[in-house]
Amino acid sequence: MITDATIQTQMIIFGGTGDLTHRKLVPALFQLHLHGFLPKDFSLLSIGRRPKTHGEYHQDLLDATKKFSTKAIDDQEFLDFAKAISYFRLDFDNPEDYLRLKQTLEDRTSSDPERSFLFYLAVSPDYFSPIVENLESSGIRALPSLWQRLVIEKPFGQDLDSATLLNESIARVFPEKDIYRIDHYVAKEMIQNINMLRFQNTIFGPVWNRHHIDNVQITVLEKEGVGTRGGYYDHTGALRDMVQNHLLQLLAITAMEPPVSLDADDVRNEKVKVFEALRPFGPEDLSHRLILGQYSGYTQEDKVSEDSTTETLVATKIFIDNERWQGVPFYLLTGKAMKNKTAQITIEFRKSNPYTLDLDNQPNILEIKIQPDEGITLHLNVKKPGVMDQMTMAEMDYCQSCLYLFNSPDSYEKLLLDAMNGDSTLFTRWDELQLTWKYVDSIQSTVNGDRNTLLKPYNVGSFGPEELDRFVDSGASTWWFQNRIY
Ligand code: BG6
Repeated sequence: MITDATIQTQMIIFGGTGDLTHRKLVPALFQLHLHGFLPKDFSLLSIGRRPKTHGEYHQDLLDATKKFSTKAIDDQEFLDFAKAISYFRLDFDNPEDYLRLKQTLEDRTSSDPERSFLFYLAVSPDYFSPIVENLESSGIRALPSLWQRLVIEKPFGQDLDSATLLNESIARVFPEKDIYRIDHYVAKEMIQNINMLRFQNTIFGPVWNRHHIDNVQITVLEKEGVGTRGGYYDHTGALRDMVQNHLLQLLAITAMEPPVSLDADDVRNEKVKVFEALRPFGPEDLSHRLILGQYSGYTQEDKVSEDSTTETLVATKIFIDNERWQGVPFYLLTGKAMKNKTAQITIEFRKSNPYTLDLDNQPNILEIKIQPDEGITLHLNVKKPGVMDQMTMAEMDYCQSCLYLFNSPDSYEKLLLDAMNGDSTLFTRWDELQLTWKYVDSIQSTVNGDRNTLLKPYNVGSFGPEELDRFVDSGASTWWFQNRIY
C-alpha cells in the first residue's frame, strides 16, 4: 500500500524570501526533518522575486533558523537538510515564469504519478488569485500527480464579499478538499488538548454546559504593538486580524458538541454548528457587548494614519443560542501593547449552593493556558487547615511547559505535517470562514460611523481601557486574566 509518508513530495513556497518562511516555515520543516517526520523524498522549491544563488539562500535560511528557532541549531545538520531546498526566481504576475516553473517541476520530479505537490502561499493576499490562476494556465495543475494541495495563509479576505470573491477564484482551480486555510492558533498544543480534556475525562463531559458553567473567557493578549506591520494592520484592526479567525476558532472548539469522530469533516461540521448559532450583533448591542480600544501612540506608528480609528483591542460578549449554551456569555478579549503576552481560555463554573455550610465559596475555575505557559489549572474550594471552619481556594496545576521544557512543537510543524499527510482537521473550511466573516461584518457595519466615540484609549503596557472592568457582568465579575500572577 502506498502511504503519504513514502511518496515523492515536492513543496513549493511562494514567498520564499519573506518573513514567514524565515521565521516559521523553514525552522518548522527543519524540526520535522530532525525528528524523521518529513517524507523520504521531500524537497522544497522556494520561490522569490529577487535573484539569489542557492548558496546565498541557504545561508539566509540558516541565519534565520538560528535566530528564530527555540532550539539549538547545528550548522552542519542544517546545511545537510538544506540540500533538499532550491531557490527559484519568479515574478508572481509573469505567465512566462510559470512556464519555466512547470519545466523545473517536471525536471525535478519523476513523471511517476505518485509524486505530489504542496503549494504554499506565504505572500501578500493580493497575489493569492494571480498565483493560483497561473498555476492553472501554465499547465502545472495538469501535471500528473497523486495529489496537489494548496496551503493558504490569512488574511483570507477583508470581509465576506472579498473573501467570497477570493474563494471563487481559488475554487475554480482547486477543489475544497485540497485547500488548506491556515489558522495557526488551532494547532497550538493546548488547543489541540481541549478535545482530550473535554471528551476523555468523564468529570468534564457532564458539566460542560449552561447548567454548570457561568461564563467563558477567551483572552489573547500581546505585549508588542504593531511593530513593522502598521501598513497591513491599520487597514485590518483587531476584529479582523484576531477575532474573525483565532478567537472565534477557540470559541468553537470550546463550545462544539462532541463530534462523532475526530475526522476532519466531523470536527468541522460541529464547529460550523456553533458559528451558525452565534447570536447576531446589532445596534442595540453596541453599549453592552463591545469595547474597542486603541493604545496610546498607535497613530504615530510607522505606516499608520495620523487620524486612524483602527482598534488595537476588542472585547466582545458573544452568546451561542443553542441548548447547551443558552444564556452563557463567552467573553472574547484581544489586544496589542498590553501588560503581558498571554493566551488562555478560562471556564468559570457556577457557584455551588452551600446548603450545609454557611460559608462563602468561590466558583470553580478551569484555566486552559495556551501561551506563554502551557498547562491546565483547576481552582477548587478546600478547607483551610485549622480548628475553625474556613474555606480557601487551592489550585491543581498541570504545568505542561515545566514537564516538557521547550519540547512543544511549533504550530507550523503540526500544520505542515498534516497538510502533507492530507489531514485537514486543523484547517478552516470555507463554510466556517463564511460564517465567521458574516458575524464580524455584522459588528463592523454596526460600529461604522460611531468609531470615534466608541474607541477607548489605553496605555501601552496596561490591562487595557478602564471600561473593561465594568464589562464582565456575571458570576465573579472579574476578568480572570487580571488575576494571574505573571
Ligand atoms: C497573527 C496576527 O495571525 O497572530 C498578528 O496577524 C498576531 O497580529 C499573531 O501578532 C499572534 O500570534 P502568536 O502565535 O504570536 O500569538
